[in-house]
Order: sequence, then structure tokens, then C-alpha cells
Amino acid sequence: MQQLNRWMAEAWSVQKSDDLYGISRWGHGYFGTNELGNIVVYPTRDPKVAVDLKVLVDEIRQRGLDPPILLRFSDVLRHRITEIHDAFRDAIKGHNYQNSYRCVYPIKVNQQRHVVQEIVEHNKQFGFGLEAGSKPELFIALALVNDDETPIICNGYKDAEFVEAVVLAQKIGRNIIPVIERFKELELLIEGAKKHGVRPKMGMRLKLATRGAGRWESSSGSGSKFGLTVREILTGLERLKQEGLEDGLKLVHFHMGSQITSIRSLAEAIKEATRFFVDLYRSGAGVEIMDVGGGLGIDYDGSRTNFGSSMNYDLGEYARDVVFSIQSICDECEVPHPMIYSESGRAITAPHSVLVMEVIDCHEMTTPPIPTIDDIKQAATEGEIPSPIQHLYDTRAELTDKNLVEVLHDAVAYRDESYNMFKLGFLSLAQRDLAERLYSAIAIEVYRRSQGLDYVPDELQDLETMLSDQYVCNYSVFQSIPDNWACGQLFPIAPIHRLNEYPDRRATLVDITCDSDGKVDRFVDQRDVKKVLELHHFKDEPYYIGTFLVGAYQEILGDLHNLFGDTHAVHVHLDSDGRPAIDTVVKGDTVREVLNYVQFSAEELAALFRKTVERAGRDGRISVAELGTLLHFYESGLEGYTYLE
Ligand SMILES: Cc1ncc(COP(=O)(O)O)c(C=O)c1O
Repeated sequence: MQQLNRWMAEAWSVQKSDDLYGISRWGHGYFGTNELGNIVVYPTRDPKVAVDLKVLVDEIRQRGLDPPILLRFSDVLRHRITEIHDAFRDAIKGHNYQNSYRCVYPIKVNQQRHVVQEIVEHNKQFGFGLEAGSKPELFIALALVNDDETPIICNGYKDAEFVEAVVLAQKIGRNIIPVIERFKELELLIEGAKKHGVRPKMGMRLKLATRGAGRWESSSGSGSKFGLTVREILTGLERLKQEGLEDGLKLVHFHMGSQITSIRSLAEAIKEATRFFVDLYRSGAGVEIMDVGGGLGIDYDGSRTNFGSSMNYDLGEYARDVVFSIQSICDECEVPHPMIYSESGRAITAPHSVLVMEVIDCHEMTTPPIPTIDDIKQAATEGEIPSPIQHLYDTRAELTDKNLVEVLHDAVAYRDESYNMFKLGFLSLAQRDLAERLYSAIAIEVYRRSQGLDYVPDELQDLETMLSDQYVCNYSVFQSIPDNWACGQLFPIAPIHRLNEYPDRRATLVDITCDSDGKVDRFVDQRDVKKVLELHHFKDEPYYIGTFLVGAYQEILGDLHNLFGDTHAVHVHLDSDGRPAIDTVVKGDTVREVLNYVQFSAEELAALFRKTVERAGRDGRISVAELGTLLHFYESGLEGYTYLE
């Protein structure tokens, strides 16, 4: 093994690391490597303008900010918006489509002020807008949009107050369209419009029969909790006609769920939705916009397949399919082409953020010494070798390439038997150690031999995790990549430096929360999911690991498990010379702030603790100097980062 590692180390290159971690595959042209062996960001996809992540992190540390740090690249955000615009512009031109396209950014995907402001600013040149799915998001949209052209689309459940605010915003001239999700909302809108003398504009969300594809496909299909049924749509149109308001039904909306992995299901949904559009048009509704919702995916593993972490299409194909699917049905039915809206959030924000965390410890998987026959004999109790130890010893001797699974099953059974005997007091600690060492020796040998097989059974694949190291990273999975914990979403993960060194360790990552779920043990791979990540041996210098494409949903879904708060967020943009400039630093939560979330007053806690410590001082249990040190730790710690500093 050591010999193999030596050969690998000699033949290793940065390019091999790029292939191993799939950087160029999932990097979408925004991430690559340099000759120093560091990961670089190309914020505008221009390979000549690169930001070295390791250099950047070193500089940020010099400014006094420690990892975990979330890096946000504003230029990537802008580039994504431009790309989406260009893709639709080309598709519209290519198909001679007789209308235009607009993207409305769904605020829920990343509501951080700096992110939304950046998007609103860049959106202006393309006439793109915002989508709000709740009252707080509506407040953001109403304040940030101060013209009468920028579209604001309101999805989500609405009450009378919400609807009235929208009606009044329409009255002052805002281009705001509430999408009716529940039939009741239509009555609220009619009431509000009458009250304020407004001819209301609105959309209707369809409950399509077509189901999406991917992890979030339950947002679509007839069983979804969103949208109006066919009956409700027909009744709704009748109701509008009664009021003479049918021309206000401007928009037809559907959403197939986020991260659509297969383009076919989207094309099917668009066809179904366009049939609704055509019928509503012919029935006298004023429909002029088709809103195809979100769902444009991100290829997290770079495999370009319909696997849950990937997508089997690219942006160009998405735009062409949307345009063509709408166009073909409208042409067939001789209905004018509608303006196309999409609500792409993930595709805009995901690539712009990178979480950098530091490895602070490594539990290396060491190989315990294999027991010899003499060790076994010495373990005999009153002349008799305990049966699980004897069996483990014999099983090891029977191991061949042909019986790997069977031997492993037997070894697990004998190891478990040894645990039971230990609990009942029939095995000593030393005997249990012997059994565990024999079991490890078998597992390692089974794993080693399985590497030469064409097909490795699942059970043997699990051995890889068991025999791997654990790298402890200073961060919280629950706060920074909640979708990984909650629904198994994979994000690309790789060291941001040392890529010119052979990564000779195999590891899973654990965070610093006191929760066994606080780990990452599935990693992106081009063909499958890897159970371990190749990492460099841990030495006495900072070792940074990046989790990429985390700009969508993660920040706001992150929770305060164990009271680990928001990480520092650093905004980086390219200056006029193409050099990275740090323009905004959003400091992570302090201990005081997270305590406050759970209604603890830092002052009260500090006063209580002071009392305890002073009493200990009076009782002579600690010196005055020690007392001072302890109080200083407590009081300054309240203002510090929630992560290890
Ligand atoms: C109604 C609606 N529109 C848009 C989106 C954003 O979707 P995506 O991030 O996949 O673009 C969502 C999220 O699921 C949504 O519910």
C-alpha cells in the first residue's frame, strides 16, 4: 500500500485532482485549478480573470475573520442573470418567437439583502423582476422596486390584508401580479379591487397532471398542495366574467418543483400548461404571459444525467424547449405568442457562493496489530479459547477472493457474539480487544480484495466508510448545508489547495455539532455517489475544504442546531483591473445574538455566572487570577463567533 502511495504521489498532478474532484465538470466554467494547486474562481467565466481561493482565504484571515466563511461572488450572480437572458434571447431569435422573455427572481431562494439588491440592480437592464412568496418577501419587493415596469409576481398563500396591499400597489402603478393559488383568493381580490376602484391584474396557478422529475417533484402533479384545479379555473373565469374583470386574468402559472432533473418532464408540463393558456385566451381571458415557474437545475455532480444531483440538459436547451413548446401549441391554435416568464432562483444563485471550512482535527483510521496465534493462545480462559475469538481467527484463515461477502457476514456475527459475551461478563476487556482486532483485520483484507472485483456488492462498499478517516471541520452541517442533512442533496466538496499533492487519505467529514447527523458521508462522483472523499494527510498547518454551489436555499434553511449561528459572509467582486476586491463583510452571529434568539439575555447569564465564580473564589477553590481568566473567557466569548476560533 505504501509503495502504491509513493508511486501515486510521484505521478500526481493538479489535473488529476481536477478529474478526481470533478472541478471542471461541476464548475460550470466558474471554477478551475491553477498551477499552485489551488482552486480558482472565474467570476465571469473568463479564464484570464481568476481568483485564487486559498490566497483569498489567507487574506480574509489576515483581516481577522476566521473560517467558516461563506464567500459570495457578485460577478457570478450577474453573469448568471446575463446568461439566462442571453439563452432566451437566442432561443427567441432562433425560433422566431413573437414575444419576449423575463425572469422574475424568487426572493425565497436567497433573501440576503446584499444578494437581492445585487440581483435587482443587474435585473434592470433586462426588465427582469422579482417573485415574492410571502408577506415579508412582498415587503422586500415593494420597497426595492420603485418603477412601474419591473414585474413583481406574488405566489404563495395570501390573506385579505396581503391581497389589499397588492391591489393598492397596482393602484399606484406597480406592475404587480398576484397569482391565485386558492380559489378564496380570487374573491379577496375582487373585493379589494371593488373597495379601491381598481381593475385588478392577476394570474392563476395551474395544478397540472404532469409530474416533475427530481427531489422536489411533489410540488407538481394533481396531488400537489398548490394551484387551482380545472374546475376552479373554469369557475374562476366565470366569476371574473360576472364582474366584467376577465381581461385582468393576465398570467398562467405553474411550477414543477425545484431542480428538474429531466428536460422531458418540463416540456410535457409546458405543453399541458399552454393548452390551458390557449383555452383561457379563446374563452375571453386577457392572458398574455406564460409563467413556467422555477426548476431550472444545477449540475451539482457534473454528470449531466437525470440523477437527483444533476440535470440532463443545459441552459440553452432549457430556453429552447420552453420557447419551442409554447410556440408550437400557440401556432397550432393560432393564438398570439405570450410573453414568457420564468422564476429561476437556484440557477441564478447556487454557483455564486462557496463555503470554506477548516479541518481542525483528524480521527485517522489506524490499523491495529493483527493478533498472532500466540496472542490467541494467551487469551484462553482456563485453557479454552473463547469461541468468537477462535471463530474469528479461523474465519480469517478461510478468506479467499471468492467468499468475501460470506466471510464478512461470519465475521460480523462473531464480533457481535463477542460483544454479547462481554456484556454478560464472559469476556474480559483484553479478550474483546482481541476479537475487535481480528474483525478489523478481516474487514481490511475483505476491502482490499474487493477493490480488484469488477462488481463490488453494496455491503462491501460500506466497508470503505468504516475503514476511512474522519476529518473534523469547524462548521455546522445544519447551519450551512441543511439540504444535505434534510434531503440528501449532494454538493461538490473539495480541498481548495494542495491539489498538486496526492490525496492519500479517504475520509468522511464531521462537523462540530453534538449530533451524529452532523456529517457528510456521500460525495459527488461522475458515475455514482462516493462514500468517502479523497483528502490530504492532516499536518500542522491550516487545511481548508470548500463546499461549492451553496448559494441557493441553504442560508435561510440553515438552523441554529447547537446554537451555531450564521457564518461570516464575505462579498467579493472584481475591480476595474479584474482583481478581487472585498466590498462587504457580513459578520456571522455572535454568541450573544444566538442566545438572544432563544430568549436568553447575555447580561443575565453573565451576572449569574459571575456570582458562581465569585463564590468559588471566596471559598478558595480558585485564585483571583484564575477567577479573572474564567470571567474574561465568558464575557469576551459572548461577543465572539459561535464557531471555534
Ligand atoms: C413558485 C415557485 N417559483 C419558483 C421557485 C424557484 O425554483 P428554482 O429555485 O428551482 O428556480 C420555487 C421554488 O421551489 C417556487 O416554489
